[in-house]
Amino acid sequence: MKKVYRFSLERKKTTVFLKKNYKEYLSELLLNKFSDNNFSGVIYFDKKLKTRANLLKVDLEKNGAKVLLIPAPSGEKSKDIDQCVLVLKKMFRFGIHRKSFFITLGGGSVGDSGGWIASQYQRGIAWINIPTTLLSLVDSAYGGKTALNFDDCKNIIGSIYQPEFIFIDLSFICTLSYRECYSALGEVFKYGFIFDYNFLIKVFEKKDKLLKRNETEWRKVILSCLSYKMDLVLKDEKDDSGIREQLNLGHTFAHGLEGGSNLKIPHGLAVVYGLLFSIHLSYLRGKISLFQRDEYLNFLSDYSFNDLKKNISKNKVWNSMKKDKKNKGQGVKVLGLARIGKVISIESVQKKEFDLIWRIL
Ligand SMILES: NC(=O)c1ccc[n+]([C@@H]2O[C@H](COP(=O)([O-])OP(=O)(O)OC[C@H]3O[C@@H](n4cnc5c(N)ncnc54)[C@H](O)[C@@H]3O)[C@@H](O)[C@H]2O)c1
Repeated sequence: MKKVYRFSLERKKTTVFLKKNYKEYLSELLLNKFSDNNFSGVIYFDKKLKTRANLLKVDLEKNGAKVLLIPAPSGEKSKDIDQCVLVLKKMFRFGIHRKSFFITLGGGSVGDSGGWIASQYQRGIAWINIPTTLLSLVDSAYGGKTALNFDDCKNIIGSIYQPEFIFIDLSFICTLSYRECYSALGEVFKYGFIFDYNFLIKVFEKKDKLLKRNETEWRKVILSCLSYKMDLVLKDEKDDSGIREQLNLGHTFAHGLEGGSNLKIPHGLAVVYGLLFSIHLSYLRGKISLFQRDEYLNFLSDYSFNDLKKNISKNKVWNSMKKDKKNKGQGVKVLGLARIGKVISIESVQKKEFDLIWRIL
């Protein structure tokens, strides 16, 4: 099994494996690590992945584990606190204990909510994450941020909790819809803007292959994003010195849109519009030239905001942005760009600036 990345945060080691058909290896790994103590655990899975979850259960049971299968609703519905409380109850009644394992099998929503559940149950049990969407493979599976939504606002409840193992298995991507691939590219472009002009160009050039779910191209993109992300997370795991915060480029407007649409817009797509918003704002505040603005917008020229705009309340988006947890005190804070590779903080964004950008988006 190929180990592609290993890091230690808070005295915990996380190993990222890259392998198709990881099942048998995972069973052995868990057998070695957890079988001394009443070998048991949970598979918390996106309900669309029932067959995969069942197959994994069979494998673990062959190795003597007692396994509780818990389906999660697809999408943002899994990040609801009442849903998660029901999961915690099921675990308690089944006899899950401190030395049990907790596997998440799903995209970013299942990873965010499952990670939170694993972090809370008996002050934290071992978490194994198997991301199954491209968005989770390029971004959400790494870094240990777990999150639930609250009152239609994104990621208000959460913890920072690192998984023990992460399995990258590209066989999951063949069942993803075009929309999911298109959405995942949003976070990929974000990495390009934050870190690396050449990466941005490459992604732009390979876009068609990526949208056709070409595994070779995605493998390269996933490994680049993983190392970009961990570079910042290792310097600022808890997100309190401003280093990790750069990963939120595009996210204030994105979370506003998600909140304003009652969590109906796919996250990655919302991030694309968030990047467009940040580029326009950076230009309006004199941080980038007209030439830079047009060059940056060009990378995202495939994405059109017009249809979405008609069906979403502008004021709801603004109100949701005002509740973003990155704001300190009164004004709305948005991350912008001074150039590709240089993220800056733009403070006290005004409603009239928001209105102007909304009109031109
Ligand atoms: N923790 C972090 O650092 C972080 C970073 C970025 C995004 N996020 C969060 O991630 C979430 C978005 O993640 P996502 O885009 O993976 O969405 P998702 O988990 O909601 O999955 C999107 C859709 O794909 C389906 N799906 C999952 N795996 C599939 C497969 N293999 N084949 C077919 N369909 C499949 C799901 O049922 C769902 O309908 C958001 O809530 C966002 O806030 C978290």
